[in-house]
Amino acid sequence: MVSELSEVTIEPLRSGHGALLFDVLQADAIYEFLDERRPESVEQLEQRHAFMLDPDSPPDDQRWLNWMVTERGDLGSAVVGTVQATVMLDSSTAVIAYIISPERWGHGVASAAVRLMLDELDGVASARAYIDPANRRSVALVERLGFTPTADSPNDDGDLVFERSLVDWPVKSLQG
Ligand SMILES: CC(C)(COP(=O)(O)OP(=O)(O)OC[C@H]1O[C@@H](n2cnc3c(N)ncnc32)[C@H](O)[C@@H]1OP(=O)(O)O)[C@@H](O)C(=O)NCCC(=O)NCCS
Repeated sequence: MVSELSEVTIEPLRSGHGALLFDVLQADAIYEFLDERRPESVEQLEQRHAFMLDPDSPPDDQRWLNWMVTERGDLGSAVVGTVQATVMLDSSTAVIAYIISPERWGHGVASAAVRLMLDELDGVASARAYIDPANRRSVALVERLGFTPTADSPNDDGDLVFERSLVDWPVKSLQG
């Protein structure tokens, strides 16, 4: 339980976080526009995380970064989701993704978490997001953070492709 006035933090995903994230990741609404499936057990989620965290898992030209998102307010603290970045080392582009508990949609929590993630992408030239055109909330989120559609959007899969230079990140006017 958190209050409306809350502080959002992100911390690197690690072994053991599966137990904290399992309930959050059960909500059907999360998967409307995602290819991935709801975890069936904490153990299965931990195995998924172990693969994501294994330095040998990504191809040589990628780095996978994952964080757990927590919201703290005067009524307490709650784990509310995840943010992730796949850094393409050749092009210095990070493909970003994010999942926030539907209970906390509409409060700017996801925007705050993505901002914090972009803060961590030191030395990465740009961030990119692939979004189903019907995923209105996700489109609104990236537009709010200054992403714009690329020339090849929509791509062959029908996804909108949004990109933002990180050269001028963080932009003060987008904070808060
Ligand atoms: C995509 C997703 C993270 C967006 O969540 P969200 O809560 O809508 O996003 P934001 O944090 O930007 O919140 C925006 C809402 O908070 C409001 N808000 C309040 N304070 C705010 C603040 N300080 N900053 C930004 N928005 C704020 C906005 O007005 C907006 O309200 P609205 O929903 O009534 O239009 C969420 O829908 C989700 O987890 N979906 C499932 C997974 C998914 O599809 N991921 C993306 C794959 S590409």
